[in-house]
Amino acid sequence: MLRGKKIVLGVTGGIAVYKSVDLVSRLRKQGAEVRVVMSEAATKFVTPLTFQEISGNAVAVSMWNEKHEFRVEHIALAEWADLLLVAPATANIIAKAANGIADNLLSTVLLAAPKPMIFCPAMNTNMLLHPATQENLNKLRKFGYIIMEPGSGPLACGTTGAGRLPEPAEIVEFVRYYLATQEGDLRGKNILVTAAGTREPIDPVRFVGNRSSGKMGYAVAQAAAERGAKVTLISGPSAITPPPNVEVINVETTFEMMEAVLQRFTDTDIVIKAAAVADYRCHEIAKQKIKKTGDDALVLVLDKNPDILKRLGELKTKQVLVGFAAETQNLLENAAQKIKKKNLDMIVANDVTLPGAGFNYDTNVVKFIFPDGKITTFEKMSKLAVANTLLDEIKTLI
Ligand code: CTP
Repeated sequence: MLRGKKIVLGVTGGIAVYKSVDLVSRLRKQGAEVRVVMSEAATKFVTPLTFQEISGNAVAVSMWNEKHEFRVEHIALAEWADLLLVAPATANIIAKAANGIADNLLSTVLLAAPKPMIFCPAMNTNMLLHPATQENLNKLRKFGYIIMEPGSGPLACGTTGAGRLPEPAEIVEFVRYYLATQEGDLRGKNILVTAAGTREPIDPVRFVGNRSSGKMGYAVAQAAAERGAKVTLISGPSAITPPPNVEVINVETTFEMMEAVLQRFTDTDIVIKAAAVADYRCHEIAKQKIKKTGDDALVLVLDKNPDILKRLGELKTKQVLVGFAAETQNLLENAAQKIKKKNLDMIVANDVTLPGAGFNYDTNVVKFIFPDGKITTFEKMSKLAVANTLLDEIKTLI
């Protein structure tokens, strides 16, 4: 998404300026071209020379330099840019941009640029929470500009609270996602992904569960977000860090997953059910930890859980419904039956007994099966590659 993009990075005066040096380096590594415009105050923290060396371009600071790279510099920079990014953005530059003040080079460039703009506010918590700053941020949002929420934690001024400039890697990720929502092939699509296994409690310390790690579903969520979709990931317990730019809803039981899925179903375009859903729940959940009593076997009575995907198949209007079938035998027959029973548009079938397939692996060996009986078979691939291949296929079904 960043390859070949021309970015004007506005850097204003705050202690977080040092992070912007790393930010420039990261943007360039992803293929972007960066021109830095600094406020006078920013130059007190880091010299323009540092930004010049790291960006590979001259740094602009003042309107009144004798030697300009461009003839009418503020207009030329505004025209050159595909995107303007201000990081760190002080309360001062936010106020200027919100009120059309153009009293230095950066504020003038911002006013002259009818281009996408992302602000990364960084300041003391009280300054950030001041109604004036909040109103200015809202004004910027109304102009259609994007605000990246600052992080919370210890601030340079000694206080703790909101106002930290996010880490450069997070800012790059944010910019990439913004560009994906504008240009990605799945932009504008609401995609709901379920992942990992649901768990059914037996008593306060034990549960009935399965071996699903969540890797496949998380890879689908990551790939869809990278392609610009608005992704909701409804996940059973998993040890994996969720991908960025995805709304994550954590659930535990099948009923909780069903409720979360049904709540969002109407507004969803595509549902990808990679979760390994517990088909049964305990008839009774013991209030206290179950103790061993003699040598008798412990008998658990299990009730059948609802089939979430089948329910969606009954409710579906415009949605594309994709199921997963992890099987240990009769893969194709079982998967084909599930397509019919659940009214699916396709199913991703995998034989979890094959080497490199199924739970906990980073790879998978899958077949795509369609209602008309068509089957596409793939070699072993990374789960991220499976996810992207699946999304390519889904695009043809929309
Ligand atoms: N699924 C679901 N709700 C359930 C069970 C399964 O939504 N109660 C979904 C899974 O997320 C998956 C698909 O249905 O996308 C197939 O799941 P699988 O466990 O393979 O099949 P089941 O229908 O449960 O059948 P069985 O366990 O008998 O193979």
